[in-house]
Order: sequence, then C-alpha cells, then structure tokens
Amino acid sequence: MKLIVSESHGQSAKLAAGQIEQCIQNKKDALLGLATGETPVPVYEQLVLAHKQGRVDFSRVRVTNLDEYQGLEQDDPCSYYHFMRGNFLDAADIPDGRFTIPKGNAEPAAELRRLNAFAAANVTDLQLLGVGVNGHVGFNEPADVFQDGYHIVELTGETKQSNACYFPGREIPGKAFTMGVGNIMRAREVVLIAFGEKKTSALRHVLEQGPVTPRVPVSILKFHPNCTIYVDKALMRGITPGPGIEVL
Ligand code: GLP
Repeated sequence: MKLIVSESHGQSAKLAAGQIEQCIQNKKDALLGLATGETPVPVYEQLVLAHKQGRVDFSRVRVTNLDEYQGLEQDDPCSYYHFMRGNFLDAADIPDGRFTIPKGNAEPAAELRRLNAFAAANVTDLQLLGVGVNGHVGFNEPADVFQDGYHIVELTGETKQSNACYFPGREIPGKAFTMGVGNIMRAREVVLIAFGEKKTSALRHVLEQGPVTPRVPVSILKFHPNCTIYVDKALMRGITPGPGIEVL
C-alpha cells in the first residue's frame, strides 16, 4: 500500500486526480468507481478542468458509484445521483447511459439484482473512496461480517449525524443501497482520499499495525494489492505507519 502525505487536501486532490487521469490514459474506456461526500469534490474539480483543457478524453469513460440513499428519487437534490451530475458527470460530458448508480426509489430486490449483474459483468478499473468517521466505505457500516455484493444497509446513528448537514430541514433516510466490500476489493486499483483530524482514527486502522476487521470496514484495504492513500498532514498527526506501508 502506498501512502502520500500532502501539505493540504487541495494538494492531495490534485495528485489523486492525476492518478485517475493516468488510468484513463492507459485505458480509454476505463470503468471508474466514484464516491460522494465533501472529500472528493476537489478531485472532480481537477478532472473537469483537465476535461475542459482537453488533457483527458472522457468520451468513452464509464462510471459507477458506491451508494445511494434508499427512497430518494434521482432528481432529489439530496440524492447521490444529483450530487454526481452536479459535481462531475455533466461537466465531464458523461451521459446517463455510461453511469451506473443505485436507484434509491427502485423496488429493492430487483434493483439489487440489476446492480449485482452489472458488478458481475464489469470489473472496476479504479475505485475512488472516501471514508466515514466510523471507518465505513461506501455505506458499508461497522458490522460482524464483510458483505460481498450490493446490499441494503441500515445507517448507524453516527453516520446519520455526520451526514445530516446534507439534509437541511428534513430527516436523513435511515437506509441506503451500497456496493459491498467484495465489490470494492475486486477493483484493479483503489485510491482513497481523506483529510483532517476527524478521519485520523479511521485511517489508523489502515495505516498502523492491527487487525483487519469488519468493525472498521476500511481496514480491509490492507489486503488490497494496489491501493494508494492520499492524506494531509493534519490527518497524519499521531499515526505511525506500520510495515508494508510505502510512504512516498
Ligand atoms: C458518505 C458516503 C461515503 C463517504 C463518506 C464521507 O457516508 N457514503 O462514501 O466516504 O460519506 O464523506 P465526507 O467526504 O463528506 O467526509
């Protein structure tokens, strides 16, 4: 696992975007697995800039996304579909036909069949990840077991609290569709980006010596053969990278 510590989150975002651009340069029709939240926003800004400047060709790139709140319509301003259109897809000229995300308002069993069939037929070339304060990836919350494929999760109180700010004046949904940890681990390349001291505790479970456990889902990345983690200095305070971490 590679660890790249930058002065600022903005710097991490530039480097992470550079790695994504490289992936697309190597494979024009790459399947990118993308993430939501405040953390990847500057990564998308960099990618859109590269697109506008003609440095990256997104014309054949395909995108899939980690998760979606259950019950939300796609055009709901709080949906992850809406987030992706607004922060990246529209500006990068990636149409609906090349974008796969759980449909929050779909009939659950049929939607899970659709998503798991997509995952079985398509290998993600590069999966971009953020991390929850409790160590969740996508919406794989702390649990007794790692889940393999797409499934529906009950969000923890902690997650609902940290994401409540994205639902001003209304209640945050209690459940979500998410890609499984197995889906994430089958990506050819994983890029995780995180910043700030509120993520230190979660990253300690990846970067320091210690068990891989579904109680801290992000810890599974210790087992990924091609994972790069971009963090800022503030997050790293108090973390001592264990053996097996290549600090660049
Ligand atoms: C949500 C998403 C995760 C994301 C996490 C962190 O819970 N489901 O994929 O990594 O938020 O978000 P932020 O970047 O806003 O801290």
